Amino acid sequence: MERIHTGITGLDEMIGGGYPKGRTILIIGTTGSGKTIVGLSFIHKACMEGRKSLIIASEELPGDIIAQSGSVGMDLEGFYKSGLLAIDKVYEERTVFARELLSYGKTDTDKLQSNIVGLLERIPPDVESVLIDNIGVFTLNMSANEFRAQIDSLVAGLTKRNITTILIIDLSADNRTENIASYSVYGVLRPSIKDNPFTGARERLLEVLKIRNTKISLSPIRFEITSKGIEFLNK
Ligand SMILES: Nc1ncnc2c1ncn2[C@@H]1O[C@H](COP(=O)(O)OP(=O)(O)O)[C@@H](O)[C@H]1O
Ligand SMILES: [Mg+2]
Repeated sequence: MERIHTGITGLDEMIGGGYPKGRTILIIGTTGSGKTIVGLSFIHKACMEGRKSLIIASEELPGDIIAQSGSVGMDLEGFYKSGLLAIDKVYEERTVFARELLSYGKTDTDKLQSNIVGLLERIPPDVESVLIDNIGVFTLNMSANEFRAQIDSLVAGLTKRNITTILIIDLSADNRTENIASYSVYGVLRPSIKDNPFTGARERLLEVLKIRNTKISLSPIRFEITSKGIEFLNK
């Protein structure tokens, strides 16, 4: 199986050479655990390698995404300007639509919040790498069954198109949907922040929970987020 670089030094070797091409990897974690930066590392690397890429961001504006990337040593601006990287405006649409509904006195925003499989249509034909950050916002009014059906269709559609995808879900949405997203995807990574019981210090950990068809190490890797991106500490 062909592998695609993760953009994180040390991670490729841990997972058999990189993310499996044309498959979907899920990242689960709490706020601030590093999900977005793991995803951006993949997109930045893909752009460096000349692959057409798309970020579907439900919580941030394009300018903020580019600024965040720049602050961790990944310059996306040139790729965005040249069109190699597109950033979908789903965030703006959600907020504008919600404002319109409210101005008509409607508070039922279910419809706009729950179309996960519809994201497929937003991906231009020649895109090879996609980051979807964060699928959790679409799950607020969804049963676990409905979510399972939608996420299965999304992942199947992405795989059919041979698009390598990083799909992000925040931990509370994952718990709310009974942790079923993990079953649909090819692999799962979990960044977290934990207390080190020996030093008392807070530290960042990255766990590889599963990657089908791949031998993985189950020990969490300590990492830091620096001006150069995600850096693994001594194992
Ligand atoms: N330039 C930077 N230097 C060091 N740490 C940073 C930098 N930019 C962001 N961070 C750290 O990354 C964290 C956010 O990571 P992010 O991937 O956005 O988390 P998540 O998407 O899981 O909420 C911030 O809380 C901050 O601690
Ligand atoms: Mg994030």
